[in-house]
Amino acid sequence: MTNSHATTGSDAVANAPLVEVRGVSKTFRQRGQAVDALRDVDLSIGRGEFVSLLGPSGCGKSTLLRIIGGLHGPSTGTVTVDGLDPDAARAGKQFGLVPQSPALLPWRTVAQNVRFLTSLHRGRAAHSVMSDPEIDGLLEAVGLSAFAGSYPHELSGGMQQRASLVRAFSLGAPILLMDEPFAALDEITRADMRYLLLDLWSRINTTVVFVTHSVTEAAILSDRVVVMAARPGRVAAEHRIDLPRPRTPEMEDSPEFHETVRVLRADLRESHGR
Ligand SMILES: Nc1ncnc2c1ncn2[C@@H]1O[C@H](COP(=O)(O)OP(=O)(O)O)[C@@H](O)[C@H]1O
Ligand SMILES: [Mg+2]
Repeated sequence: MTNSHATTGSDAVANAPLVEVRGVSKTFRQRGQAVDALRDVDLSIGRGEFVSLLGPSGCGKSTLLRIIGGLHGPSTGTVTVDGLDPDAARAGKQFGLVPQSPALLPWRTVAQNVRFLTSLHRGRAAHSVMSDPEIDGLLEAVGLSAFAGSYPHELSGGMQQRASLVRAFSLGAPILLMDEPFAALDEITRADMRYLLLDLWSRINTTVVFVTHSVTEAAILSDRVVVMAARPGRVAAEHRIDLPRPRTPEMEDSPEFHETVRVLRADLRESHGR
């Protein structure tokens, strides 16, 4: 090809989705019954994209997240992560995980909890893991500098979850998988955590796959929201969220935001058959 605008091989790789889910189904057996946790799911996630999986409980959000992260294999279909099998991607430390409860080690301080994982990943990851001074910078960004030497039980639930976010971001992993990380927090703390997460994400532009059953959370955080439906678990709709960044609490009062929320709610209702 002589066209100078032609896509070269390396451009094609750079523009290819980071995560590709193709025709994925997952069937679990529960007391002799087959449960279709996922049926025929297709999903592409671009580099640096913030994508939320939104849906009621039981629609397969966690299952899909775990399949992307190589923690479950699909029953049928394929997943690639930067061209790799999720298992291989996991072995290469491509993922950081933020679970619903912070899961900090109780006998280690906040700083030790964060550094413990980075020290495990250092040398085994293809990407660079944060240095201790960089980690200190993140602890400061989330207001935990004064608590670096504290133990988890000395912190509120919100502070523990902030430490858990820092721990995940400090790994420098290309993909962060977050499974309802704010679900156990009170409403006010939860609202603050959204902007804290966005602030961390703006410093470290990783790809985020964020599971939630909160419409407002999905709408304010995401570049794209994937609405899921249950029985069988599947993708019901997808919406690009065009609100400008940085997102602010004031945007939650804007007509654009209300319209986004309205559309997502309508999709959710439709996916329930209501
Ligand atoms: N390890 C498992 N064994 C059996 N059934 C499971 C397992 N994990 C999930 N399921 C079932 O798969 C469906 C989807 O679950 P899940 O992915 O946890 O949904 P969500 O995260 O959206 O609440 C549910 O019916 C759940 O009971
Ligand atoms: Mg779940």
